[in-house]
Amino acid sequence: MTTITKVQSGGITVDLVQGDITKQKVDAIVNAANSGLVGGGGVDGAIHRAAGADLQRELNNIGRCPTGEARITKGYNLPAKHIIHAVGPVYRGVDNPAELLRSAHLYSLKLAQENDLKTIAFAAISTGIYGYPVDEASDVALNAVFDYIQTHQPDFELVRFVLFSSSILAVFSRTLGQLAQTRDDV
Ligand code: APR
Repeated sequence: MTTITKVQSGGITVDLVQGDITKQKVDAIVNAANSGLVGGGGVDGAIHRAAGADLQRELNNIGRCPTGEARITKGYNLPAKHIIHAVGPVYRGVDNPAELLRSAHLYSLKLAQENDLKTIAFAAISTGIYGYPVDEASDVALNAVFDYIQTHQPDFELVRFVLFSSSILAVFSRTLGQLAQTRDDV
């Protein structure tokens, strides 16, 4: 696991690592789910395979989740205690992708805070099958995290982004560097 960038915001560490999110030992990983909450491909498929079949049974009881929202389950066989299933937008499928991607992140952080979770690791929601350009998505995702911290002052210890490839990590890292120059809370 390579950590490229680490910053502090409101006493909380926000960092970027390259790796497989299913290996993260945190209070919650944030999955890039679909609104049917039925295990799909990409990171969702990897999480379902690693967590085991009981995950889908719990999701079936929850039902659906609108785009821009999230739902929480147990982590089952994962090292993470919980999974937050966030539904990001299909980039070319909606008029307001940035608003919905931001909302999916804010909703996930709200669930984490309500459940008293301290360490949270996000996947790069919508940047795969849903086609969101990574540079735009990184700006929306990171600003959402810093805005949430500033507004809600949660008792988090770590908010992490787990990026699957070195190229996605490089884009998030560049965006984080830019935000550190422009935001006085980073
Ligand atoms: N760990 C971390 N990141 C991963 C992993 C993994 N094991 N596998 C894939 N990724 C990364 C991809 O490289 C991409 O940057 O997750 C990011 C999100 O890509 P997708 O998984 O395709 O998610 P998304 O674009 O939000 O599309 C969601 O795909 O799997 C289905 O059910 C899901 O229908 C939903 C859709």
